[in-house]
Amino acid sequence: MLDRPSSAMRDRLAMYSGNALKLGLFGVNCSSGRSATRVPERWSASWADCLALSRMADDAGIDFMLPVGRWKGYGGDTDMHGETLETITWATGLLAATSRITVFGTVHAPLFHPIIAAKQCVTADHVGCGRFGLNIVAGWNEGEFEMFGVEQREHEARYDYAQEWIDAIKLAWGPQDDFDFAGTHIKLKTVRAKPKPYGGTRPLIMNAGSSGTGQAFAMRNCDAYFTATSSSRQGGVEATAKMVAGVKSEAAALGREIEVFTVGQVVCRPTQKEAEDYYRHAIIDNADWGAVDGMLSIKNITPQTVGEDEYRKKREYFASRAIGGYPFVGSPDRVAEHLADLSRGGVRGIAFSMVNYLEELPLFRDEVLPRLARLGVREA
Ligand SMILES: Cc1cc2nc3c(=O)[nH]c(=O)nc-3n(C[C@H](O)[C@H](O)[C@H](O)COP(=O)(O)O)c2cc1C
Repeated sequence: MLDRPSSAMRDRLAMYSGNALKLGLFGVNCSSGRSATRVPERWSASWADCLALSRMADDAGIDFMLPVGRWKGYGGDTDMHGETLETITWATGLLAATSRITVFGTVHAPLFHPIIAAKQCVTADHVGCGRFGLNIVAGWNEGEFEMFGVEQREHEARYDYAQEWIDAIKLAWGPQDDFDFAGTHIKLKTVRAKPKPYGGTRPLIMNAGSSGTGQAFAMRNCDAYFTATSSSRQGGVEATAKMVAGVKSEAAALGREIEVFTVGQVVCRPTQKEAEDYYRHAIIDNADWGAVDGMLSIKNITPQTVGEDEYRKKREYFASRAIGGYPFVGSPDRVAEHLADLSRGGVRGIAFSMVNYLEELPLFRDEVLPRLARLGVREA
């Protein structure tokens, strides 16, 4: 275990590396990862696999791991996300077993008491010597809230609550002791929270709200904003650069700096044809349409609500590019070139998934990472 003498905020933000483009693995704590697929090699999310993968990723210089906070599966043949490891305890275990990689915990603000969450994050952060990050989720999935006996607030109010929650967390992490907090929703008396996060700073904070309110929340409170780039990527580097500049200037208007990250799905094979064949095989021909339907119905998208034709389009769109995010499918040359384009457009990093991360990361490590270094977006 690396004992870090200091953990300056800029080092945390850089995830302790000089890589211009940060790379992270997304959804590893959930069965099926980010792919609604029936192929037998789909991700198990067992602890043994998570542990082996985190060590491989740590050795390879992958910058971060971002789990999904998820409590109930989507159904279908595979019950995608039917088995998930709780993210802060998962992160703590992985941080103890690795030495360089940043590991996020993904927390539903309304489901975790802020003072308990603050201390859980601090514990993970000490275990990882300053490598823990927090993804705040306001919540979107009604069925999950029901299962906790917690009522889902209407959309704007979710972010009002999340604002108080993160204010309370930041106070608990800050120097002040015995503070009171008198919010509309959260009321705390004489709070004492020690120790503080590792190294006298605080964990990285990210959010991925897609609505205007969610994005504004990220601007006000977070270091990193994660956004899907499927639409802006159609327009290439220029459209990506425009999207990033828009986010950054909104943050700058609030006197804040924020980095823009995105998500995607990587299918890399030695040749372009092999990659495209596998993508079609796993993501389209063997899609778990029952799980896709389950996810769509939570979002109130059904043949009854949108009509048969529109539903068919939505279903295909979700299976092919919404659940896993933008697909990076191809040979090492193609995948590296597309990832480098993100960096050229000003995107700071990407959290990506693979159908089976453990089987697929070695080719990515051996063939894509050196190309990204040669393209100037990663250290050798
Ligand atoms: C990278 C990324 C990670 C996310 N992680 C989670 C998660 O772990 N759990 C969850 O319930 N929602 C997650 N979401 C959903 C968002 O937090 C958010 O609720 C959603 O984008 C809807 O945006 P809105 O809240 O602004 O309406 C994630 C979204 C993205 C793009």
